[in-house]
Amino acid sequence: MDSKQQQRVRKKRGWHRNAVTVGVVVLVGCFFLMNWWMLFRIQEPGRSRGLKYRFLRTNSTTIHIREELRKLGKGKRLHKTIYARLLAKAAHALAEGQNKPEPKDLWEEPYMIAASSWKPYAQHRNWEPSEENKGYIMVSANGGINQQRVAVCNAVAVARLLNATLVLPKFLYSSVWRDVSQFGDIYQEEHFINYLRLDIRIVKELPLELQSLDLEAIGSVVTDVDIVKEAKPSFYLKYILPILHLNRVIHFVGFGNRLASDPIPFQLQRLRCRCNFHALRFVPNIQETGALLIQRMRQNATHSGLLDHYLVGPFADSKMKHERSRAGKASRYLALHLRFEIDMVAHSLCDFGGGEEERQELEAYRKIHFPALMELKKTTKLPSSAALKSEGLCPLMPEETVLMLAALGFNRKTRIFLAGAHIYGGKSRLAALTNLFPNLITKESLLSSHEIEPFMNFSSQLAALDFIGCTAANVFAMTDSGSQLSSLVSGYRIYYGGGKMPTIRPNKRRLADIFLKNDTIEWKVFEKRVRKAVRQTKRVFSRPTGRSVYRYPRCDECMFNATESVAGKGS
Ligand SMILES: *[C@@H]1O[C@H](CO)[C@@H](O)[C@H](O)[C@H]1NC(C)=O
Ligand SMILES: *[C@@H]1O[C@H](CO)[C@@H](O)[C@H](O)[C@H]1NC(C)=O
Ligand SMILES: *[C@@H]1O[C@H](CO)[C@@H](O)[C@H](O)[C@H]1NC(C)=O
Ligand SMILES: *[C@@H]1O[C@H](CO)[C@@H](O)[C@H](O)[C@H]1NC(C)=O
Ligand SMILES: *[C@@H]1O[C@H](CO)[C@@H](O)[C@H](O)[C@H]1NC(C)=O
Ligand SMILES: *[C@@H]1O[C@H](CO)[C@@H](O)[C@H](O)[C@H]1NC(C)=O
Repeated sequence: MDSKQQQRVRKKRGWHRNAVTVGVVVLVGCFFLMNWWMLFRIQEPGRSRGLKYRFLRTNSTTIHIREELRKLGKGKRLHKTIYARLLAKAAHALAEGQNKPEPKDLWEEPYMIAASSWKPYAQHRNWEPSEENKGYIMVSANGGINQQRVAVCNAVAVARLLNATLVLPKFLYSSVWRDVSQFGDIYQEEHFINYLRLDIRIVKELPLELQSLDLEAIGSVVTDVDIVKEAKPSFYLKYILPILHLNRVIHFVGFGNRLASDPIPFQLQRLRCRCNFHALRFVPNIQETGALLIQRMRQNATHSGLLDHYLVGPFADSKMKHERSRAGKASRYLALHLRFEIDMVAHSLCDFGGGEEERQELEAYRKIHFPALMELKKTTKLPSSAALKSEGLCPLMPEETVLMLAALGFNRKTRIFLAGAHIYGGKSRLAALTNLFPNLITKESLLSSHEIEPFMNFSSQLAALDFIGCTAANVFAMTDSGSQLSSLVSGYRIYYGGGKMPTIRPNKRRLADIFLKNDTIEWKVFEKRVRKAVRQTKRVFSRPTGRSVYRYPRCDECMFNATESVAGKGS
């Protein structure tokens, strides 16, 4: 209590002293939110109306980014070890605690009863397929696989709203991911079409008579510049429907986050959930390799996970027929999505302990990829890295992530599936993680080169494997809640997890407050505070207004809240 009060007083004083800084921080925060999508869009071809785009653009001015990522990711320089003292304490605690029991709810939802009262419900419809056909909607989604997934389901909802037929979605080629994968390379087309048959009509191609139209010339190409972000249904009825009536076809290009979360009619919202959680199934070769991946993460345990069936379909159990049983503790694993790539790092304007070299490197990157941010930097006095950090606006560093996991009670035996790639700073930056958690495993190390080869040139398909590895994990830990992968994975785990698939979603502001004491805090105290902070984020609540149904499916549109019957059974 005492120390709490002190904290509060300290905070209060700090607040007054830094009132100006905080004001700027809030401003910059808004700027970040508004521009967050820039991260997804830096590589996107054909932003403006006049620009010609192609589905399979093979050349582009930004093609060098990926090389650059690779180069920077392999930086040889040694960071002076940040958080050295706390890390040493963590290492000591982990070594000592080898045989100590794990905290009780390490692998469980702390609010299990509340969490398990929500059941999937988006499969239920109470409407007829729309009879009329007002025209065709085409969509060419940009970004990575997870952003495309959101775009696809939003397009499904818009097609229903406008009584239109959807043409099987296309994916735009991005020079960063350099992946030519199309919808059918990732998701089962037939299942998608059939599952949504009672909601909307989906065709594989535009009818012949419309194919010859110059959509651009007749004004049927609608880019993200033409649609406000998070547009409401009324926007589509007012501005898009007339074009559809006139031309019989609309082509959405980009379509990143172009449909609001609220307000949306109840059944339309449910349709979005149905699309995301039921209609999108990975193709068999991704499912098969995904199954292999989770089977190996679980060390051949015979039991399958709760979500396996939804992720890898028929491969969920067939894989393990002849293996000996190894169910139980040995088969558990933690999945970690460490979102610490250079784009995120540079965009944050934070300091990551790499000194002058790091500052120059990030500044150079920003000059190329975030010109708007550089402009802002010139004209405005921006808050310091420390101020940003205390507001929770800095990505969690690998060192901080390690400390958090160790504090929560994960130990040297914990098997960790590490999703993603290209950690900024490369191997040396990962050292803290591998030192404390030697069982760090990636898809590249789990699969033989022969097994992973068919996916190697397809970053979206590799990302699908990460999606499976993360979603099936006993515990999933993210470091940035703005990440599309993390957000979709946690939504999926809520929807199908029955309250048994916990997700660690750190509150970075609270953690920053704890990390600030890195030179004085005792490990026990650190542990306690981190546990408390993380536990608080696991409270069960229904979807806040305006938040994504893909991320927060606990709402009446998507799930069924059986709280009463659970309470009735007595708990
Ligand atoms: C590719 O881009 C380069 C410049 O970056 C240009 O010289 C070349 O003609 C382009 N190739 C094609 C096929 O567009
Ligand atoms: C740790 O604490 C010291 C002193 O309180 C501070 O200067 C430093 O920035 C903190 N952070 C790291 C990453 O070491
Ligand atoms: C739904 O479930 C939550 C707990 O998950 C509970 O607090 C809430 O009261 C329930 N709402 C309704 C309308 O039943
Ligand atoms: C779509 O069709 C339904 C009936 O099937 C109708 O009520 C609704 O007004 C139509 N919407 C549009 C935008 O045409
Ligand atoms: C799992 O099964 C494979 C193939 O049968 C075997 O090579 C591997 O050693 C097994 N792994 C464990 C941890 O039992
Ligand atoms: C991947 O691309 C590289 C060059 O871009 C090529 O040499 C290699 O054969 C490709 N691999 C597969 C499996 O397609």
